[in-house]
Order: sequence, then C-alpha cells, then structure tokens
Amino acid sequence: MIFANSKGGVGKSTLALMAGLGLATQHPNTRVELIDLDVQKTSSDSLKRFTNHRFQVLENEDFFLNSGSPNNGNLINHMGTDFPYNQDQKFIVFDSPAGNEPSRSTFLTHCDIVFVPSSVGDADVFATQKYLTALQQLFSRQKGNMEGPPPPIVILPNMIDSRDEFNELRASLSDVPAYFGKPLYYSPVFRRAFRDDENDTSVATLLKHAQPYIKWLTNLILKAESLPQPPGRLFQL
Ligand SMILES: Nc1ncnc2c1ncn2[C@@H]1O[C@H](COP(=O)(O)OP(=O)(O)O)[C@@H](O)[C@H]1O
Ligand SMILES: [Mg+2]
Repeated sequence: MIFANSKGGVGKSTLALMAGLGLATQHPNTRVELIDLDVQKTSSDSLKRFTNHRFQVLENEDFFLNSGSPNNGNLINHMGTDFPYNQDQKFIVFDSPAGNEPSRSTFLTHCDIVFVPSSVGDADVFATQKYLTALQQLFSRQKGNMEGPPPPIVILPNMIDSRDEFNELRASLSDVPAYFGKPLYYSPVFRRAFRDDENDTSVATLLKHAQPYIKWLTNLILKAESLPQPPGRLFQL
C-alpha cells in the first residue's frame, strides 16, 4: 500500500508509520517492509530503530532514479519478490514525498491500495483533487498493462477538528470516484510521532491513543482485495 499526495504536511508519513507499526504489532502472522520514497528519509530514519523479524525498513538506492523519482522497474520487481517465509502475509508500506507525480510512478498500479491523506484547508483539498485526477489518468493509461482492476483509492481525512469540518471535507470531494475513510482527528500526540525518545514513549502513546483508528485502517488493508469495484462517486467507508 502507499500513502501519497502531491501536498506536503497532510499526514502521509504519520499514517504510513501507523499502518506499518500497527500491522506489525497488532496482527499476528504479518510481516511489514517500509519503503520511504522521500529522499529526506524522515520515516525510514526514524523507524529503523523498530526493526525486528516482523518489521523492516528497506533502504535501497536502486529504488530511485538519479533524478530522485521512483525507479518503477526496480520497485515493481521488488514488489514481485517474496519473503522466504511464506506462512506470513507480507505488506509493503510505501511512504512518498510531496511533489510526487503519478505520471512518473507506474509502480502505483501494482499496489493493492492507495491511501491519499488530506486535511481540510482549501490548498489541501485542491491538491487532493488534482492528485486524484492524475491518479485516474495514470490508471486509465496503464489499463492495458494491468492484470486486474486498478487499486482502490482511499482518501484519509486527517487533522480534523470537528464533525462539521469532516462533513465539509466530504462535501467538497463528493464527486470524486474514491473511498472516503474515517476521520483522524487533530491531536498533539501526532506531532511527536517521529521523536526518538527514551523507551519510545511518544510512539507508544501515539499507538495507544490512535488504537481504534489503527484497527480500522489495518483491517481495511487486510481486506483491500475484497473491496467492491471503484465507486462512481465518493463512497463513505
Ligand atoms: N492528526 C494529526 N494531528 C496533529 N498533527 C498531525 C496529525 N497528523 C499529522 N500531524 C503532524 O503534521 C505534520 C505533517 O505530517 P506528516 O505525516 O509529516 O505529513 P507528510 O508526510 O504528508 O508531509 C507533522 O508534524 C505531524 O506530526
Ligand atoms: Mg512525509
């Protein structure tokens, strides 16, 4: 799965952390690989310390072109290889940088699910709409090269202040043919997600605070394949 939006600061890295650590800690028989496509490597640098037999952070120059864009061929190749231990379900969590362009990211068509975090400001909503259009264009252009249907797109409303704000965001995206997730509310707990403090208190607090949300998100990931065909307009999950 990938967390992507052309806009920065919408929660891609935070949600990638929650999905990755959430799967590894709350679902038995899962293995998680985190691949950070941001050359700044905030996610991979901070999550490396959690590496164990169920959670890995992969850093590989071959995942990038010299320009810093994703190396689609190598990424697709990697997504096709399996862990040697097959009784476990393997998940690759991609975090992606701001400015990422679907047209240069054909590997997206090989993901099982694409999460597009968005917050409520006008700039975020416009960026999200634009990003979704570019994603749809990529999927229709790649139709002939895909084995099955395109991956489901799930918008993740983030940094929400109130139910009203959530409804407002949903209304402004109502024409978009994508799924709409549960709201993740604004909380200072998330501001400290990447802090490497003693005993990992900040991450532990975050995982605990957001447990119901993480449960929802990881269960959705586990059943991504059984989501019905893409909705014609925004569909509230
Ligand atoms: N629900 C939330 N409540 C409060 N702060 C949040 C929330 N989600 C993310 N943040 C904060 O917003 C900032 C941007 O989040 P980040 O995940 O780095 O975004 P991106 O990867 O899209 O640039 C970070 O400081 C992060 O801690
Ligand atoms: Mg980020």
